[in-house]
Order: sequence, then structure tokens, then C-alpha cells
Amino acid sequence: MNENNEMARPASFSRTTITELMIPSYANFGGKIHGGILLSLMDKVAYATATKHSGAYCVTVSVDTVDFLQPVEVGELVSMKASINYVGNSSMVIGIKVVSENVKTGEIKHTNTCYFTMVAKGEDDRPTKVPKLILESATEVRRFVEAIYRKKFKQNYETNLHEIKKNWEKQDIETLLKNQRCINTTKEVG
Ligand SMILES: CC(C)(COP(=O)(O)OP(=O)(O)OC[C@H]1O[C@@H](n2cnc3c(N)ncnc32)[C@H](O)[C@@H]1OP(=O)(O)O)[C@@H](O)C(=O)NCCC(=O)NCCS
Repeated sequence: MNENNEMARPASFSRTTITELMIPSYANFGGKIHGGILLSLMDKVAYATATKHSGAYCVTVSVDTVDFLQPVEVGELVSMKASINYVGNSSMVIGIKVVSENVKTGEIKHTNTCYFTMVAKGEDDRPTKVPKLILESATEVRRFVEAIYRKKFKQNYETNLHEIKKNWEKQDIETLLKNQRCINTTKEVG
């Protein structure tokens, strides 16, 4: 409990790592690991981290910036390192760093970093308040502030796209599509 009698926890309380060996059945037709296998592992580690912090059942609401920068190979040991970066009322942003290790050579590559937004739910299945986050280092402060900005950018993006769609004219669309690799066979605008 903090000075306002509200529950608060540091990120270290819920920090979680999941490590798994990439077996041949996880591979796609090109012999690399399926993106879906990695997404599933990310979802699990985000769930574990959010549930530890909140002490409640959590659901995934949103996933940001999953870019697969390098392929993961069969036989590599993949670790998902998750830490809670931000808390709102019922939502939590979990940052996940994905690293892949070649177990023969020990070479480690950072394949991506992404952000899962999880929401804690109460017994009534409605969003429920989560403990505040105690920031204990400059890195934790930076991550919290970055999450605030990311949230703002996302809201701006939604508003901008909505405005553009409200106002776009047939003329704009024709100009925009002129040099694109598509063949427009309709005169209609959706
Ligand atoms: C997440 C869910 C509970 C939100 O319900 P809601 O009635 O919109 O509730 P609220 O508007 O109060 O939002 C709750 C929180 O979610 C956040 N949220 C809602 N949509 C969001 C989105 N697209 N991205 C990020 N955060 C979002 C809100 O900002 C709010 O955060 P806060 O409490 O920290 O301020 C509801 O949409 C849901 O149950 N979704 C299904 C989740 C699920 O089942 N996932 C598994 C994959 S199928």
C-alpha cells in the first residue's frame, strides 16, 4: 500500500521470462519459425506479467509494433523477457523483448520488441482497477513516459484517419492510386 492507501507494486514484482526451444514442428514452409508461434509465446508472457501485477484475470486488448526483424531458426532457444511498463486504471502495457540464442554457438540475436496492452477483469467480467506502478529507475520512468506518448500517438492516428476518410474525394483517391501497384476496376469509393 502507498500513502493513499492504494495498492502499488514495482515492475520487479511481475517481471517474467518464458524460454522455449524451437522444435521442427514450429517451422513454416520456408524452414523458419512461424510468426504465430512467437505471437502465442508473447501473449502467454504478457498474460503472466499482467496477472502477477494485478492479481486478477487479464485479457489481451491490443498488440503494438510486432515487427519480425530477423528470422528465428529451428533449434534456437527463444526467450521472451516481459516487464510492465505502464498502468492506467484497468489497463497495463507490457513491454516484451524477444531474444533468440543459437545453443551451439551461444550467439544471441534480438529479434524484436513489442508492447501488449492487457486489461484486468473483476468477478463481474468488467475492467477492474490495478495496483499503481512504483518506478524505481530512470529506465522505468522512460518506459512509462514512452507508453503515454505511444497511447497519444495511437489516439491521434485513429482521429486523423477518421477525419481523412470523412473528407476524401474521388479526385484524391485517383491521385493517390495513380503510381501504386494496383488496378482500380471500380468507380466507387468505399
Ligand atoms: C478490453 C475490454 C474489457 C474493454 O472493455 P470496455 O467496455 O471498452 O472498457 P473500457 O472502455 O473501460 O476500457 C478498459 C480499458 O481498456 C483500455 N482499452 C480499450 N480499448 C483499447 C485499445 N484498443 N487499445 C488500448 N487500450 C484499450 C481503455 O483505455 C481502458 O484503460 P484504463 O482502464 O486503464 O483507462 C473489452 O473490449 C474486451 O473484453 N475485449 C475482449 C478482450 C479479449 O477477450 N481478448 C482476448 C483475445 S480474443
